[in-house]
This record gives sequence, structure tokens and C-alpha cells, in this order.
Amino acid sequence: MTDHYAVIGHPIAHSKSPAIHAAFARQTGQDLEYGRLLGALDDFAGDVRRFLESGGLGLNVTVPFKEQAWALADERSARAELAGAVNTLIRLDDGRLRGDNTDGVGLVRDLSDNHGFDFTDARVLMLGAGGAARGVLQPLLGTGLARLVIANRTASKALELARLGSELGPVEGCGFDGLAGERFDLIINATSAGLADAVPAIPDDCLAAGGWTYDMLYGDRPTPFCRWGREHGAARVLDGLGMLIEQAAESFWLWRGVRPDTAPVIESLRQPES
Ligand code: ATR
Repeated sequence: MTDHYAVIGHPIAHSKSPAIHAAFARQTGQDLEYGRLLGALDDFAGDVRRFLESGGLGLNVTVPFKEQAWALADERSARAELAGAVNTLIRLDDGRLRGDNTDGVGLVRDLSDNHGFDFTDARVLMLGAGGAARGVLQPLLGTGLARLVIANRTASKALELARLGSELGPVEGCGFDGLAGERFDLIINATSAGLADAVPAIPDDCLAAGGWTYDMLYGDRPTPFCRWGREHGAARVLDGLGMLIEQAAESFWLWRGVRPDTAPVIESLRQPES
């Protein structure tokens, strides 16, 4: 019997998740279908319930429902707990709903496994203190990095997020002006500035020699922060396509107990659309 999964969000038409999971299923020989659900803005819980009642086994959750999915879950992983957001819902055998968040592990695996970034002793700067930043905090602090600075346009939110992570690793928060004179081996952009074609107003010299930049956004063309990385001499400039595919692979593993090979899927989604 074919098992059913889906991604739910609003909007959802442009989600790449169905193509990614279809590729994983083909590659691993799993008999499943993965669809796209446009969630009603005022009835997320109802949409999830109906999907589960029709036999659905799991959901990926995207904007703007990740916090509602957190609240809906009967139990949650530690990383989802700290994220305050759930991107993966798993129907357990007893019918209860488990919430997890695979975004952070997706980011860390893309950087370390796919690209060979060595977090050990690294000085890492994360820009932004909204949902995207909070969602990756726990796995990032678990990498063995030397220092994580969270910098945000609104400094108070960075301080608050750093406080939340302070028991897990060496993390500090500040405003962009607090970055003067600092140097980082990796700068991760977790702001939504790129959606408005903008770049966070950080000092020009905060990337160390040989430092990398990573934009959690991705696009068919280089994102504004990827352009910033190139213009400021980054040794590697990465966007978030690999993170998207790695977070999907972790969800697939949670549902199916099988780990897909992500490299060919990243490769195929990199191809310009014909
Ligand atoms: P998301 O879920 O994408 O994180 P969010 O919770 O609304 O969305 O957070 C957006 C983040 O992008 C915030 O850190 C925001 O900074 P503020 O807290 O100061 O608003 C940041 N952001 C958005 N536009 C930005 C810009 N033009 N420059 C710098 N930071 C920006």
C-alpha cells in the first residue's frame, strides 16, 4: 500500500519538497506519495487532522505554520523544543503526533558533510534573530564551534535568542554595531532581508581571511547575501539549497528509517530549469 506524506504551507505552489521527496523515494525504493497542501490560514489544525484521518503518515510544515505545528504536536524533540517551531510532523503508531525540527541539522550537514566546513574552533556569526535563526540554534551550538555571535538589526532580539541558547554553547548576542573590529570564519545569513533584495548592514571587514558565507535563502540567481560574500572575498559562497535538501533527507529518515543519498538530488535541483 502506498503511504502518504505532504508539505503544508501558505503559499505552497513553489515548494520544491514534492520533487525532493519523490527523488528520495525513487532512489530508496520506498512506496510513497508526497503531495502539496495549501493550508487555510485560519484552520491549520483542521487541515492537519483531515490529512491524518485520510491516512496521511507525516507532514512537512513550512511558512507560516511552523509555530502552530509546534503547538499541535503531542510530543516534541529537544531540538524542536528549543526552536519553538516544528517542520516535521510524524504520526506515531498510537495515533499521537510527534513534532521535530530538521532545519538546523540540514544546515550543519550541508556545511560540514557536503562542503567540508570544519566547525571545530570556528568563529561563527549568525545574522538575524527571527524564526529562521531560532530554528537552527541547537544543532549549530552542538557542532563544537568556538564562538557563535548572533547579530540582529534589533539588538534586543539577538540578546534574547543568545540567552535561550546559553546553556548549550558559547553564544552571544549584539546589534550590527557590536560587530566593529570582529572577524568570523563563517557568516550565516538567517535574516529575511534578501526577500526585499537587501543585505544586513554589517561591517565590510567582519569576514576573516579564508572565511565562508552561507545564505539560508536560495534562488535561481545569486542571492543578495551571496553577492555580498563574493564582493567581500569569501573563500566559499553557499546558498541554502543544500540545507533545504538535507532537512528533507532528515525528515525522510524520521518517517521511513532510511537515509537517502542527497548528492544527486542537490545536483539535479541545481540544474537551471529548462
Ligand atoms: P524568519 O522566520 O525568516 O526568521 P522573522 O521571524 O520575521 O522571519 O525574522 C526576520 C529576521 O530578518 C529578523 O531578524 C529581522 O530583523 P529585525 O528583528 O530587526 O526585524 C531580519 N531582517 C529583515 N529584514 C532585514 C534587513 N533589511 N536588514 C537586516 N535584518 C533584516
